[in-house]
Amino acid sequence: MPTPEQQAKAAQLLTGPDWYRHAVFYEVYVRSFADSNGDGIGDLDGLTGKLDYLKGLGIDGIWLMPIMPTPFKDSGYDIADYRAINPDYGDMAAFDRFLAAAHDRKMRVLVDLVLNHTASTHAWFQDSKSSKTSAKADWYVWSDTPSRPDIGCGTYGPTFGDSAWTLEPARGQYYFHRFYPDQPDLNYRNPEVVAETLDIAKFWLTKGVDGFRCDVIGLLFETATSCELVPETVDYIKKLRAVLDSFPDRAMVAESGLGTPVAYFGSGKDMFHMAFDFPYGYFGWNFAFAAKTRDQVFKAIADTDAYPAGAQDATLIGSHDVARAYSRALGDLSRQRRAAEISMFMKGTPFVYYGEELGLHPGAQFVVDNRDFARTPMPWTTPQNHGFTTGKPWIDFGEAADQTNVEAEDKDPDSMLAFYRSLLAFRRGHAVWDTGDLKLIDVDNSGILAFTRTSAEESYLVVESFSDEPQDGTAKSDLRAGDLVRGNATIAGRRITLPAAGSAVFRSK
Ligand code: GLC
Ligand code: CA
Repeated sequence: MPTPEQQAKAAQLLTGPDWYRHAVFYEVYVRSFADSNGDGIGDLDGLTGKLDYLKGLGIDGIWLMPIMPTPFKDSGYDIADYRAINPDYGDMAAFDRFLAAAHDRKMRVLVDLVLNHTASTHAWFQDSKSSKTSAKADWYVWSDTPSRPDIGCGTYGPTFGDSAWTLEPARGQYYFHRFYPDQPDLNYRNPEVVAETLDIAKFWLTKGVDGFRCDVIGLLFETATSCELVPETVDYIKKLRAVLDSFPDRAMVAESGLGTPVAYFGSGKDMFHMAFDFPYGYFGWNFAFAAKTRDQVFKAIADTDAYPAGAQDATLIGSHDVARAYSRALGDLSRQRRAAEISMFMKGTPFVYYGEELGLHPGAQFVVDNRDFARTPMPWTTPQNHGFTTGKPWIDFGEAADQTNVEAEDKDPDSMLAFYRSLLAFRRGHAVWDTGDLKLIDVDNSGILAFTRTSAEESYLVVESFSDEPQDGTAKSDLRAGDLVRGNATIAGRRITLPAAGSAVFRSK
């Protein structure tokens, strides 16, 4: 538990325009979190009922995966109405109750803004596909052939499926879709689309949300040679930022591409407040622990040196799009723990994916697509249906939910839940972890990652092993260790000695 002093300091850091730098976020799939009415589908009232659990974990902000009406071809990333709530999840009154309850607890809320494409059932697309002269004819990206010279990425396959072009018989033309055919791309070269989508952002900000997670935001415009963050997309993001800045204390985080997110920050003031650091976060799509080397992580952290002043990394080790952290750690909980530590000790704002704090195992049933292995219901208790629903869950629980659930882990001081609580409590109110300087230390053993974190008030040395065997190595510069405050390691001069799967934090100021 954080001390009252830590809590008071945290409350102070979380007030004012820089709040998001000091927050810990939690990503929620509403459908799988908590069901309040027994229909087997998680909903907003269910989530509202669990806010105290999240508060107790040490969470300051919630990112809601899409909550708008959807034909559910991409788990809600196919939106049919941007100003309403998915009836499976409740209604606008339920959303307002949730937002007020979160705000009462001083927790912020980010909603997912899916702007690159709509559902094919959206009224705009229904109109657009009906004829070349309809009111919204030019709201999507059409072509007489399944390609277009000005869309370089339109000639090869989309992210999902075989072709990025699908024939629409009613109109006699093909439409462009970077994702499923059920997700036609909007035409951002049409000023009406720009105005409408900015107005949608305003709608949610006016409702009081604290900001957005912006889905595949780099993909809005295409050119013949590039489809990520082309200059027109940058201009659009600056307009979106201006809309946000017209409301006090709002923030947005970019779903950036797979490389360094540096370009999503712009000057550090005119584009994103935060961007996901995927090269760090998924360790190049697999935990480096399997390779037993820090090298990928070291490089991703080194890349953050190029960020403009004001940029804030968003760090994560899992999300709804990839295998669970537990799976990436190859079922080795100590690997997941070290991955979580690194993501919370490096400079940035951590995002925890729901269930990660339990070490949730993968599921085996696919309702939408194979990403459902990481979208199973949250197990709250041990008995029947794990307290998620009184009905039949919309999708099966993941493996081992009898052991891996909140009730069981609550009682076990060695559980993943106890570990996450203590890790978040350790950081709480210490701004050095959020914004302090980070300096990587070169150690002559690539099984050891070492770095310092320093602010005017505090200074820490972090050492993490990427190996399951004891390790030692020599730093190429002097170490100022100070007192061991977490974990276990020995520092003697420049020499670092770590036990098997070890990690440690030292405090020198
Ligand atoms: C983002 C989402 C992913 C979705 C895709 C298309 O990558 O995270 O879940 O399928 O965008 O919207
Ligand atoms: Ca329900």
